Amino acid sequence: MRAITLAVSVAIFLHLLSDERFNVHGGKVLLVPTPVIESYWFEMAKIGQVLSDREHDVVVVFPERVLTKRQKDRPDFQFETFQDQGAWARLEELNNLEREEAGEDGQIFLPRLLQLRQMWGQEMAKHCDLLLRNSTLTDRMKASRHDVIVTDALFHCGAIVGRHLDVPNVALVAPLEHDTRATGVPFPCSYVPSVFSTFDDRMPFLQRLENAFVVCKQMAVFWLWARAHDSVTHRYLGKGETALTAMSHTDVWLYVSDPLLDFPQPSMPNMVNIGGFHVKQAGSLSEELETFMRSSGDEGVVVVSFGAFMNSVPTQQAEVLATAFALLPQKVLWRHGGEKPASLGSNTKLMNWLPQNDLLGHEKTRLFVTHAGRSSVYEALHHGVPVVCLPTCLDQPANAARLVARGAGISLNYRTVTVEELYQAIVTVITDERYRAAAARLSSLHRDQPQPPMGRAVWWIEHVIKHGGLPHLRARAVELPWYQYYLLDVAAFLVAVCSVAMWFVWFSCLLCCRKCRRVGKIKSQ
Ligand SMILES: *[C@@H]1O[C@H](CO)[C@@H](O)[C@H](O)[C@H]1NC(C)=O
Repeated sequence: MRAITLAVSVAIFLHLLSDERFNVHGGKVLLVPTPVIESYWFEMAKIGQVLSDREHDVVVVFPERVLTKRQKDRPDFQFETFQDQGAWARLEELNNLEREEAGEDGQIFLPRLLQLRQMWGQEMAKHCDLLLRNSTLTDRMKASRHDVIVTDALFHCGAIVGRHLDVPNVALVAPLEHDTRATGVPFPCSYVPSVFSTFDDRMPFLQRLENAFVVCKQMAVFWLWARAHDSVTHRYLGKGETALTAMSHTDVWLYVSDPLLDFPQPSMPNMVNIGGFHVKQAGSLSEELETFMRSSGDEGVVVVSFGAFMNSVPTQQAEVLATAFALLPQKVLWRHGGEKPASLGSNTKLMNWLPQNDLLGHEKTRLFVTHAGRSSVYEALHHGVPVVCLPTCLDQPANAARLVARGAGISLNYRTVTVEELYQAIVTVITDERYRAAAARLSSLHRDQPQPPMGRAVWWIEHVIKHGGLPHLRARAVELPWYQYYLLDVAAFLVAVCSVAMWFVWFSCLLCCRKCRRVGKIKSQ
């Protein structure tokens, strides 16, 4: 009996394996990454790698100057190149300039910010033009007949290349950067906080006011970027298209987001949340690290990292951190590439690099002190580790605020934090059961999905490969002019009809009254 059951299960399994519906292999995937911003490339490359492991051909377009480096990172990918005539370097310069001008508090005077962003958009458009102008390259790409193109929603060029080659587009979207005009989805600033604010979804009047302002600022930036790409779009797609219409042809939007962190908000059927797609099961540690973790006993370990971007914390802050860590009964494992702080305690171990995901998944880990970068936040969330956040810039303060709103930790001001504050925060989060319970709940919710986020991303890309574009999922909203989208034409019509009706009633009354008065006069005479 058992043998029969086994045979049947094997047969079903083999049938599933051979079933076309479960198997899409040998697709041709073209990746068009955003220039300069490395974290975007790392995310895209992770998805590309899984596609490559599933026997799809993955081709990437990069300027020649970064080719060797990228080839070394991802030997499984094929590369197409072009000469970008220094556009990459100029974009890097602009990036640095913005960081310098933002200074300590991360704020830039609005007109200057818009000016910098416009310059960025123009440089991106130039980069795009150089890519599309190279007919050797575009002919090769056309001849390859790719099944799908994977792009970033931040970089209009990807969508333009997709339209030019007539290939369906899948766009990766960081919550930081998405032009809601291209997706057609409403973005209600009344209850959806921008990722440039630290608000949660209960905003009193002043916060709603600020949220609306921040969202408008972001929309202005997108408007500038889209405008900057319009002449390239006209040149390669014809006068009828703009960068925005090209982008609105995106078939699937893969959001690096999850309602566990980002508050509930409207969505379209072609928007898919894949927040935490990069998180893997924790692997085993090196012997040295495992021994260190075990040596912590019941107190456990505090893991500290500010990401690759901030590998060395400035001296003054490093001393504050080191002093606070030295007071703890726990052991501390700190990713720190800078000089060894003078106040470093004997319980603290410095390392140039940490296997962060494996450490967060380790049973001895009690707390994560983090800059709250997006990937770190999802690793903490997935492994259920409570956090003390010290965010510095970009979306980090918002990520931290989201974890705090979910009860999984405390956020402190990185620039002004004192030894006492940091020590108290760490002790509170470790000893108060509520933080651990909240983190554990987030973790079990994030793990309890019908498909892991990476599986979902791959399923949707293969769905596009199989069916060649999904126009039926695209909301018509993107094609409507703004006055139709907001029903202003309908409102104007209704106002007109009501006005005519009211005028008619008023005029009839007037006529009746006159008649009555005349009749009254005649009678009285
Ligand atoms: C054009 O593309 C080809 C093929 O990718 C490349 O070898 C060549 O360097 C490119 N030329 C320019 C000017 O971008």
